[in-house]
Amino acid sequence: MAKSRIAVVGAGLMGHGIAQVFALAGHEVTITDTVAQNLDSAKSRIAANLRDLGDDESAIARVTPRADLAEAVRGADYVVEAVSENLPLKQKLFAEIERHVRNETILASNTSVIPITAIMQGLKRRERALGTHWWNPPFLVPLVEVIETQWTSAQAVAWTMELHLAAGKKPAHVKKDVPGFIGNRLQHALWREAISLVEHGICDAETVDAVIKASFGRRIAVLGPLENADLVGTDLTLAIHETVLPAIDSRPGPSPYLQKLVADGRLGFKSGEGFRKWSAKEQAALRAKVFAHLKATRNS
Ligand SMILES: NC(=O)c1ccc[n+]([C@@H]2O[C@H](COP(=O)([O-])OP(=O)(O)OC[C@H]3O[C@@H](n4cnc5c(N)ncnc54)[C@H](O)[C@@H]3O)[C@@H](O)[C@H]2O)c1
Repeated sequence: MAKSRIAVVGAGLMGHGIAQVFALAGHEVTITDTVAQNLDSAKSRIAANLRDLGDDESAIARVTPRADLAEAVRGADYVVEAVSENLPLKQKLFAEIERHVRNETILASNTSVIPITAIMQGLKRRERALGTHWWNPPFLVPLVEVIETQWTSAQAVAWTMELHLAAGKKPAHVKKDVPGFIGNRLQHALWREAISLVEHGICDAETVDAVIKASFGRRIAVLGPLENADLVGTDLTLAIHETVLPAIDSRPGPSPYLQKLVADGRLGFKSGEGFRKWSAKEQAALRAKVFAHLKATRNS
């Protein structure tokens, strides 16, 4: 794929990592942020990541921080927004960005859950707007969901899919702008049942996690659920669903158990206790374990 000029708006956790991936793929990347400290530290954070991963550190030369939004996006072929998760902020930002880019520049939001339709509805040229949902850390988790709205052109989707594929990511085309896209719908369907098992006294939180990690969690990176259903047979899957689905939690809202945890201030790592207690040492150990696992499997 031809090298492009890419602008990343927001230099936080996701933005600096996205900039890193595109710079490593050979693109010229500008990055902007309204908080000077976040912008000023972006290059050193990217450099540290590249060093840690053993990636080509010369990629950092292709990253240019710009404090001014207009300067950052002017001349860009592609703009990806990774600012705070706030609808009015994102809407305002895209209206401003649209004033400074060419008509054909593709505009993407990395929102976690806000509908892309809501973010992009006020644009003059909505056919070039879409969602790209990366996963943290962007340089280690392969998936990028590419979400089209009712207005997005097929060309914008195809170009964006190719851009991410050529940068070593695994893009997935989400054909309708539904809440949670694909990945988070699946992930949170599982979390709902995980919480329900604890809420109903079937097991404790450690046991839920241990069961997953010691069973289908072992296979899931190489055997998706629908491959698995075909492997065991759709007839067996149907028989299992006839018995199990009526018993699985299907409440439409968040679990009362989860609501109580939050109301009680049991917020997880940040308060030292959530579904279970976490010492500072245990928190650091779990974070390090996840990072090491993602590093070891990044090219698989
Ligand atoms: N953290 C995750 O795991 C994750 C995963 C997928 C998607 N996302 C989404 O990505 C986006 C960014 O998340 P994050 O975790 O990087 O947040 P973050 O808080 O680390 O970074 C957001 C950055 O945006 C900057 N910012 C705020 N207003 C701005 C403006 N008007 N112009 C330029 N910069 C501005 C902030 O200064 C900050 O540096 C959010 O929409 C989030 O929901 C996050």
